Amino acid sequence: MRPQSLGREVTMNPVFAVVTAAGSGTRLGYDMPKALVELAGETLVERAVRGMQVLPEIVGIVVTAPVEVISDFEKIFEGVPEVCVVPGGTVRQLSVYNGLLEIPNLAKRLGYELTDSTPILIHDAARCLTPKRAISDVINALLDGCKAVLPALPVTDTQKIVDSKSATSSGIEIEKVSGQVDRAQLRAVQTPQGFHWATILEAHEIGAKRLRESGVDATDDGALVEQLGGDVYLTLGSEMSLKITTKLDMIIASELLKRDDLRAEQ
Ligand code: C5P
Repeated sequence: MRPQSLGREVTMNPVFAVVTAAGSGTRLGYDMPKALVELAGETLVERAVRGMQVLPEIVGIVVTAPVEVISDFEKIFEGVPEVCVVPGGTVRQLSVYNGLLEIPNLAKRLGYELTDSTPILIHDAARCLTPKRAISDVINALLDGCKAVLPALPVTDTQKIVDSKSATSSGIEIEKVSGQVDRAQLRAVQTPQGFHWATILEAHEIGAKRLRESGVDATDDGALVEQLGGDVYLTLGSEMSLKITTKLDMIIASELLKRDDLRAEQ
């Protein structure tokens, strides 16, 4: 299915999104960017963008693409004014920052004004099966005044903390357990993570400075807000929001798409 412009009515509470798609396909076993790998005949990035376009309040989407193949991504979204493509960075955090910096330009082109509390979603193209309900819950919590909202699920496996790594006499790699965390207190976070515009811009500006100075990056955007002492809230995520990382994930995602009842949830 070709990406389409939805020619939207101007909405009262516009939401903008960054879809991160600048990662490599190495762990998936492909010699191409992961977001261009096809799942049931559609690339992961097109599927992720389409999944967001289903929500009428999402009026503009910035896609981050690997620099070397940016023209391939531009071709995919050619003629879709509400989607634009920017080069990704060396790590996910910098890709998101590049995407955020483009949002004011996109908003202006589309005739919207950004305010400090405009909801911004940051979504991984790799989570292209995320259902509408999980995205809506994040947007509604942002509109209700939460400045940082992450979809999350309870953890089902018992979790251990380890310290030293070693090997047995026959060479089996082992790790020594040093403790256990109460899994009832843990949540596994997903995307789209949602933020008020002023909150996420400040968090990323400071995060980019920290990365330049100390080389330390954050693997999710919520962590950058937590580092500033901001309150971060969780909504209920979805098992459909799995992050497609390995070949096994691809097989699971293909099977999920064959199930009419689960597809309907999208
Ligand atoms: O590598 P990881 O699975 O954590 O990537 C999560 C998401 O971030 C993926 O959608 C990937 O395309 C994106 N990414 C990015 N820029 C990078 C690395 C990853 O946009 N430099």
